[in-house]
Amino acid sequence: MSKEKLIIFDTTLRDGEQSPGASMTRDEKVRIAKALEKMNVDIIEAGFAIASPGDFEAVKAVAAAVQDSTICSLARAAIQDIERAGEALAKANSSRIHTFIATSPIHMKYKLQMTPEQVLDQAVRSVKHARNYTNDVEFSCEDASRSEFDFLCQMIEATIAAGATTINLPDTVGYGIPDEYGAMIKSVIENVPNSDQAIFSVHCHNDLGLAVANSLSAVQNGARQVECTINGLGERAGNASLEEIVMAVKTRHDQVPVETMIETQHIVSTSRLVATITGFPVQPNKAIVGANAFAHEAGIHQDGVIKHRETYEIMRAEDVGWSENRLVLGKHSGRKALYKRLKELGVEFESREESDEIFKKFKELADKKHDIHDEDLQALVSDIQAIELAEQYKLVSLSVCSKTDEIPEAEVTLMNNAQSSDATATGSGPVDATFKAIEQIANSGATLELYSVNAITKGTDSQGEVTVRLEKNGVIVNGSGADTDIVIASAKAYVHALNLLGSDARRAHPQTQGI
Ligand code: KIV
Ligand code: ZN
Repeated sequence: MSKEKLIIFDTTLRDGEQSPGASMTRDEKVRIAKALEKMNVDIIEAGFAIASPGDFEAVKAVAAAVQDSTICSLARAAIQDIERAGEALAKANSSRIHTFIATSPIHMKYKLQMTPEQVLDQAVRSVKHARNYTNDVEFSCEDASRSEFDFLCQMIEATIAAGATTINLPDTVGYGIPDEYGAMIKSVIENVPNSDQAIFSVHCHNDLGLAVANSLSAVQNGARQVECTINGLGERAGNASLEEIVMAVKTRHDQVPVETMIETQHIVSTSRLVATITGFPVQPNKAIVGANAFAHEAGIHQDGVIKHRETYEIMRAEDVGWSENRLVLGKHSGRKALYKRLKELGVEFESREESDEIFKKFKELADKKHDIHDEDLQALVSDIQAIELAEQYKLVSLSVCSKTDEIPEAEVTLMNNAQSSDATATGSGPVDATFKAIEQIANSGATLELYSVNAITKGTDSQGEVTVRLEKNGVIVNGSGADTDIVIASAKAYVHALNLLGSDARRAHPQTQGI
């Protein structure tokens, strides 16, 4: 029986980036977009072009770099937003403008301070304007799950008539319950007279942990596009996770009779890439991509799996890329092999200096670590990009003394605006001492909100990947660093976070700015 297609719309680079501190640079977005393209994602929402010049450039760069997926920019239902989105997408092989306005009484009254008639009029004008740039226009009724049904239907009918080709009905605040949300999608499709002229889409947030369940229920009731993110990244508790949606559809097509075009064997590597770049590690028990997702601890389970895999496993680890042969390079690999692999990972160099630098760092790493995996290369590239973008501070050297029964001491040298500064500090551990020494120089006034260390690969020679989250005056940043020495990785991550704080980290937020 042929199944209907479920369109996978990935918003890791837009809604995912709205997670506090998860902002990505243009080059990082391009790397993730290339991985999404390789996975065969249908639509990549690359950003919110009007949010900042950086966001605009990132959408533009993704549009130029990706050929096979449609590239989308978010735009509020406002003429200047749509023009900016249209401009950023001009070079895309295939483009979509995604425009939205809130339709729930609470959002219209308090946030927009607009009447329903004004909202309807603005939505229709925006969709019509977006059609001047592309024939592929998505319209979202923000907070659809808390909107009044009749008004929702009126909005949908009018925006389809104005030219919207996809209608998205988000559960913006993660309030929906699967049966109720699915029923809403069904009733809308049945009640809107021109509903056959658009694809219905869902975009669910995970505030009650129901984003994937709500999305699947919507699909069972007629939605044919799901908006989701890698690792479930996103505003507050996140969005529906792409890997869970895709694997649920693949594993339970008896219940969800649709198919996606996703090349599932690239899921794990893409998840790793997003975790490395954003500094949001994946919890071990996360479905599909967590380190324990396919690990069978209990003896009884292991026995069953050995006798017959399907006793306890409903999916094959290799189908999502766990057992992909990801061992790539080593000490004897040359430039050609390294550059070829990096190209396959979506990393492009802008200059000869850049490619020389990565080769040098690769050789240094290969001296310390026998097997270099894709994850190591991704971390290496992130590290180099972080150093290149460093505006104020650069880590020059670090020396730490840590002995039993002695107070650890760290000595740090930083370049501070091209001037060398040294500091020494003690702390409760080597990392604490290091951060205190850095702060003696930086005196940033920031609060450390999170410190986490993850091993990138297996084995004690693994690089440690560190995330440092700093907060200052409401701006949250995540710095990341990787090294086979976790104290050095920590120092790199702290310095990276300081540099991010110093850069213009503030961007317009699509859902809190009035139009
Ligand atoms: O959650 C939401 O409603 C959104 C819209 C902009 C689609 O992110
Ligand atoms: Zn959202």
